Amino acid sequence: MNIEFFEQERIFKLDTPNTTYMLQIADTEGFPVHLYYGRRLRDHILDDPARLKLHPFMPSKNERERCSFLDCTPFEYPNHGLGDYRDDAFSVINPDGHTATSLSYSTHRIYDGKPAIPGLPATFEGNAVQKGDTAVCAVTNITETGSDSTDSQERGCKTLEILCLDEANGLEITLYYSVFDDNDAIVRSVKFKNTGKYNNIKLTKALSTCVELYGAEYDTIFLHGSWARERWMDRQPLGYGKHSVSSCRGESSHQEHPFIAVCERGADEDHGHVYGFNFVYSGNFIAQAERSQFDQVRVLMGIDPVDFSWNLRAGEEFHTPEVISVFSAEGIGTMTRNFHDLYRNHLIRSRYLHRKRPILINNWEATYFDFDTDKLIAIAKQAKEYGIEMLVMDDGWFGHRNDDNSSLGDWYVNENKLKGGLKHLVDEVNAIGLKFGIWMEPEMISPDSDLFREHPDWAIQIPGRKPTLSRAQLVLDLSRKEIRDYVFSQVEKVLKSAHIEYLKWDMNRQLTDLGSSGLDKDSQGELFHRYVLGVYELQERLVSEFPDLLLENCSGGGARFDPGMLYYSPQIWTSDDTDAIERLAIQQGTALIYPLSTMGAHVSDCPNHAVGRVTPFETRGYVALAGTFGYELDVTKIPKADQEMIPKQVAMYHKYNDLVREGDYLRVASYQENHEWDCWEVVSKDKSEALVTLVQVLNHANMKPRVVKLKGLDPDKTYSLRYFDIGTGNETDEELVLGGDVLMYAGINMTGAYNGDFRSRLLHLKEI
Ligand code: DGJ
Repeated sequence: MNIEFFEQERIFKLDTPNTTYMLQIADTEGFPVHLYYGRRLRDHILDDPARLKLHPFMPSKNERERCSFLDCTPFEYPNHGLGDYRDDAFSVINPDGHTATSLSYSTHRIYDGKPAIPGLPATFEGNAVQKGDTAVCAVTNITETGSDSTDSQERGCKTLEILCLDEANGLEITLYYSVFDDNDAIVRSVKFKNTGKYNNIKLTKALSTCVELYGAEYDTIFLHGSWARERWMDRQPLGYGKHSVSSCRGESSHQEHPFIAVCERGADEDHGHVYGFNFVYSGNFIAQAERSQFDQVRVLMGIDPVDFSWNLRAGEEFHTPEVISVFSAEGIGTMTRNFHDLYRNHLIRSRYLHRKRPILINNWEATYFDFDTDKLIAIAKQAKEYGIEMLVMDDGWFGHRNDDNSSLGDWYVNENKLKGGLKHLVDEVNAIGLKFGIWMEPEMISPDSDLFREHPDWAIQIPGRKPTLSRAQLVLDLSRKEIRDYVFSQVEKVLKSAHIEYLKWDMNRQLTDLGSSGLDKDSQGELFHRYVLGVYELQERLVSEFPDLLLENCSGGGARFDPGMLYYSPQIWTSDDTDAIERLAIQQGTALIYPLSTMGAHVSDCPNHAVGRVTPFETRGYVALAGTFGYELDVTKIPKADQEMIPKQVAMYHKYNDLVREGDYLRVASYQENHEWDCWEVVSKDKSEALVTLVQVLNHANMKPRVVKLKGLDPDKTYSLRYFDIGTGNETDEELVLGGDVLMYAGINMTGAYNGDFRSRLLHLKEI
């Protein structure tokens, strides 16, 4: 990786191992303009793709047509209101009421490493984490993070800062770009500074990135969803105009995802050019591709400008969150694996990242609110017998919460349910030999709570308006420091009250009624962003004070599954839909960007509570194995045959989790596309081992042959193949020996391996 500046042409060339990104400072008004993003180039000399030399409307030659020039120039960070009618990257309202912006190059710096972004999650130089150097990654107390990693690869990075000026507004705008030794990602963010021409400038839009692509027929891929149906892949041809997804819900959301891929029309898993963009942020966002009159495609990403404004007073700075972009010339799969590696090596800080997580059993789908100490102990005892390692007590243990209508904010134990208190329960569970984890929803307040009765103004709401309830609850105003301090003290008190080793941090509603009693009338537009900053501050305090805590973020299922939250927790609850078949699409979409080790996935009871489907226990286990793996059922009540399978699944998890957690993930077949079967692989980095999961969703009579061509293996290696036998918890004695070339180019015949719907198989390959 490298970043070079070619002085004569004023070109910046950013190289990752396989890609190049180039921009130029145009002679015209010093605009930073985009030149190239794609496969790695040897040299910086191009044939003027931005038409900067030949442009018929160059203002220096043809001042009367400046507008035409602006309207098709590929800007690195597009201006507002001066003649570029495509969407802009930033806008303001200055004290004179004007909204136009413009930015011109001033100076630049290129240096090793990557600065942290104040108050925001961000990728970091991986070497620093391995060495326990906390400064670069802005972690306060997590000194041992990632120390379990045995991989000694160089994980350095380099940063380019381009300082630009919008003189008319007295604004300094710094564009940041970072590249890594070991990854094809380019990370961008922006800093604004009011240099004092005006006492205050209101930022009304401050996106994090803009990339201009030229000349191909493109498709977009978005991850669309809903509650219990998160992140389904949605691919559409990119037509003219703006095509965007966004969230203005105060969280990244179930519905849309802070991700966009723009790929060549014919690109598939293994071929074609793909540009992926993911936003390291957990609040409102916009992700947009706009195809212009000249077939230029402008990709924008950042905080959704809807209901956003920020007062930048003289001397103050505003930092945007960062956007990660990955270009792959070898299809969608390579993009995926770059994101996975980037997140494992440069974003997730938890010391659990490279560790096998304890197999947990969560009582939510087992009992919902109807539990007490005895019930939990009975589950724990049985779970222990089967090899499960941790009991997680979900919602309903505090205040007088027997349903979802009350008590959020009252984080003291409901002694009617937990007789003898929380510590007593935890001690008992520990005595059985299980770890203990707990559920909390710290950001919320129920109108029926002691906290609300005492502090009605602590909820986000607009004076004079009846606030909109969702799940009978309101949201605490985390923009206010005293409320954040109170929330943290409550979480801290609970965690310190007993030997609690895991926390599920839930967030079950979106934000409405944006009003804060802590902000003046000119600053109400800051609340959405200040709320997210408040969440981040709380989570930073949490992981700093409890570095050994295993934190799992969650939001009504998977509404806040994003890179921002991964900075704090190594895993996130993927979806409230635990049905193995529904999970195929949900987990496939999620794993398009996020490593399998981050996806909370549990085996649950049937008929499934979300969809009523009955699937084999075995299949539920194989699908959950592609995530963190755990259980969400009453182990004392499920059929005996299923209970007996648990120890076999536990053995399966211990056997394969290292590979699943650390390996390369490859999509082989997608049920969403073929409507029959699903198949994915995880291959170890050295290609000596692989795990293939195949789920036959629908069976047919007189089936066509199903020859599965594997991927990602070494064609020159020879592998032994054995199926995992859920009956014994071991692999079959019977083995097949085949070359990697045969497995990939000729394939293996998996026709008729099973009879029935929802059946599945797990195949383990080992180099011999
Ligand atoms: C939503 C979560 O996704 C569920 O797993 C469960 O924790 C409930 N909230 C509890 O209210």
